[in-house]
Amino acid sequence: MSQTRIAVSNQKGGAGKTTTAINVAGALAERGHGVLLVDADPQGHATEGLGYEDEYDTEALSLYDVLIDIAETDRFPELIRHHEEFDVVPAHVQMFKLEGELTTARRREERLSMAFDSLEHEYDFVIVDCPPNLGPLVDNALLACRRVLIPAPTRTTAIRALEILFDQIEILAETFDVSIHPVALVANEVTTDSEAEKMLEWFDDVLGEGVPVFEVRKRVALQRAWNNGVSIFAHPEECDMTGVYDDVAAYLEGLNDE
Ligand SMILES: Nc1ncnc2c1ncn2[C@@H]1O[C@H](COP(=O)(O)OP(=O)(O)OP(=O)(O)O)[C@@H](O)[C@H]1O
Ligand SMILES: [Mg+2]
Repeated sequence: MSQTRIAVSNQKGGAGKTTTAINVAGALAERGHGVLLVDADPQGHATEGLGYEDEYDTEALSLYDVLIDIAETDRFPELIRHHEEFDVVPAHVQMFKLEGELTTARRREERLSMAFDSLEHEYDFVIVDCPPNLGPLVDNALLACRRVLIPAPTRTTAIRALEILFDQIEILAETFDVSIHPVALVANEVTTDSEAEKMLEWFDDVLGEGVPVFEVRKRVALQRAWNNGVSIFAHPEECDMTGVYDDVAAYLEGLNDE
């Protein structure tokens, strides 16, 4: 089995990226896969949620150093921490500076790809939690992963963000002459009103055939699992959304066999 890398991306804030990244990583781990979750968001929400807040402002080597200094990309494996469900590379507060600092750097969009090339462990899946903007960090994640899982709310405000994301994916793919594409969409906090219904139709239309849309409802159990430092799969509370995340994981397994 080869390694499948997935960027969880949508530049819209609060779209459910971190919730999706953690729970899809949990679902894949539950299925017996080796999973690495990389927190590429300077906000460090996944880092903090999973209990690595000390790493977020550590003086030791961090993801910031590995991305800013091209001579350090091969030290990426030193950043790996062993969470009870899957492995994690925490974010660092200094990553906020990266957006500006990388703008003129050589191979600035390829740092994460280069870092992934140095992975010693054989992970089946690498999941990257992206920040809520477009910029060098997201470009790095899209180029390193080539496959994009898009969480989006079922609100018309999601439309513009997705159109811009698709444009950016196309620009990167053309510039670097690689294939980058959305593999699935997780409609997050789906409601039952007509706006949600219209949005689910729009998602299907715009993504086209072969790109499934999964539907996750609003559930406090997901927040409680997060506060407990785990995905819903390692959380004792029952939640009817585990099946959906497991469906996403099963679908991603299929990509891995391609
Ligand atoms: N399906 C859900 N049910 C209940 N709460 C949810 C759900 N999805 C997300 N949330 C909550 O909504 C908030 C925003 O979600 P999340 O952090 O996953 O979005 P995000 O896209 O990663 O945000 P950011 O753009 O800031 O990185 C969080 O507090 C999260 O716990
Ligand atoms: Mg987030």
